[in-house]
Amino acid sequence: MAVITFANTKGGAGKTTAALILATELARGGARVTVLDADPQRWISSWHGLSGAIPNIEVISEITLASIQGHISENRRTTDYFVIDLAGARNSLLATAIGLSDHVLIPIQGCSMDAKGGAQVLELLGEIRRTSGIEIDHSVVLTRVNSLVTTRALQVVKDLLATRQVRVLNTPIIERAAFRDIFDWGGTLQTLDPQRVSNLDKARENARLFGDEVRRLVPMRRAPSRFSRAA
Ligand SMILES: Nc1ncnc2c1ncn2[C@@H]1O[C@H](COP(=O)(O)OP(=O)(O)OP(=O)(O)O)[C@@H](O)[C@H]1O
Ligand SMILES: [Mg+2]
Repeated sequence: MAVITFANTKGGAGKTTAALILATELARGGARVTVLDADPQRWISSWHGLSGAIPNIEVISEITLASIQGHISENRRTTDYFVIDLAGARNSLLATAIGLSDHVLIPIQGCSMDAKGGAQVLELLGEIRRTSGIEIDHSVVLTRVNSLVTTRALQVVKDLLATRQVRVLNTPIIERAAFRDIFDWGGTLQTLDPQRVSNLDKARENARLFGDEVRRLVPMRRAPSRFSRAA
């Protein structure tokens, strides 16, 4: 199993949206996914309640500093991917979740405030490397990207990340109505109605490419996992 955490200390960076897109894509590909919903707004838990049973997806709510490791231990045999959705804050749960992760995905919108929240996560990863010698793999995923134009602000963020030699996923998450609608209506991008959601085909293709890229970076059976080392 592998643990993938979405982290950015800035609120509204697109963590929850990207986490749900990834979870549903991995599950669609046949992986058993457990989402640990540590976002106080509990969007993914509400989505799950609204959706009913979705094949291959479990969602666990009320994740705390004290409980997170236990949830992973208890579910590791029946889970291929844990996807952790964190609050947009710098706290102990963030540090613990990162420490348990095989890969940290840092969603960043093309604006400087988000880049700062992402930079705090990169600093934390640096601290873990310095103090424990553990290198936790990580990548930035650009979110809410305009499908038509590269804004100046987005270009500034990209340049900054290139200077710092931070990996940026080739697949940005585009601003799409479908990525909002799944939270309102439940289900997945596959069950949304193309008559009611504009550019649903493009959103599905975007999600597929995102899922494929993350799967390549974080294969299903990666040994030894960060968690086995910590346990
Ligand atoms: N790719 C996208 N297309 C359309 N809307 C999006 C996209 N990504 C995020 N949003 C919208 O932006 C807002 C913030 O996104 P989201 O809740 O995913 O961020 P977050 O980082 O989880 O926030 P928080 O830190 O508060 O938990 C939401 O209203 C969401 O619907
Ligand atoms: Mg969130």
